[in-house]
Amino acid sequence: ANNRTFTMLKPDAIEKGYIGAILEQINASGFRIVALKMTQMTKSDAQTFYEVHKERPFYGELVDYMTQGPIVAAVLEKDNAVEDFRTLIGATNPEDAAEGTIRKKYAASIAENAIHGSDSDENAAIESAFHFAGREMF
Ligand code: CMP
Repeated sequence: ANNRTFTMLKPDAIEKGYIGAILEQINASGFRIVALKMTQMTKSDAQTFYEVHKERPFYGELVDYMTQGPIVAAVLEKDNAVEDFRTLIGATNPEDAAEGTIRKKYAASIAENAIHGSDSDENAAIESAFHFAGREMF
């Protein structure tokens, strides 16, 4: 069935000028953009968004990285969206990511890994609602 996932192009990808290339690859892979914006998260936003990681040693570094500059947030629609999008972006660590995946092409490291993709339908809905009002999703 057609369903949705949530993504963010992370500050390192924006800084390096990759917005156009990444959105092009997302579209070319069959995902329809149903919400889109550039925004910058506050520390408090990032702490809340990544709350599940708060006991991890990299939590502080993650919050600093995700707030260092703007992100591009989007909601994407496709058959089997969550799983197919995680395949498209590749492994968390770009060194382990498959050839041709977004992280293989654009990510610098496991921390600065260029792009986010929701890990479940439930989290896709929570993360979309965190960044977008109902009237901003089409
Ligand atoms: P993502 O999987 O989208 O969400 C959690 C993020 O934490 C991950 O992307 C990376 O940006 C970051 N992260 C994961 N593992 C590490 C790590 N070992 N060191 C630093 N950052 C990490």
